[in-house]
Amino acid sequence: MVARSCLVVFLVSVLLIISQSSSVVGRQYKQLAAIHVANSMPKGSGPIQIHCKSSYTDYGMHQVDQGDEYQCSVRERAVYFCMATSGRQFAWWHAFQPSRDGSRKAVYWLVKDDGIFLSWDNSTWVRKSVWQTE
Ligand SMILES: *[C@@H]1O[C@H](CO)[C@@H](O)[C@H](O)[C@H]1NC(C)=O
Repeated sequence: MVARSCLVVFLVSVLLIISQSSSVVGRQYKQLAAIHVANSMPKGSGPIQIHCKSSYTDYGMHQVDQGDEYQCSVRERAVYFCMATSGRQFAWWHAFQPSRDGSRKAVYWLVKDDGIFLSWDNSTWVRKSVWQTE
């Protein structure tokens, strides 16, 4: 019985150590804000490619289906660019810009067929970029 409770204490300690060390790893990069990019292209227009980066962080290219959302973190107070491509069209914009977005915790973007729209509350939208063709 004593041996068993020792074992339980031991296992709980191991679990605590593991969960603490993984949360340290999780906090290695503090998230200053979240960038949300929603694909609101017309139905049937297929997936878009999204690529977001700053001078320090590069999130690579991600495919986002119509109706889906891509999310990445702002890790440094720096300008983050995102670029979207849809077929032969492309658009790019400042997804996070310290002078514009201040200490807001989330910046929302809608990718639509008539441009790229910004919101800070995911409900009122302002167009900030338009599609270009090579
Ligand atoms: C933003 O609003 C849309 C439409 O209401 C919703 O589907 C989406 O989940 C919201 N995004 C976030 C990150 O809350």
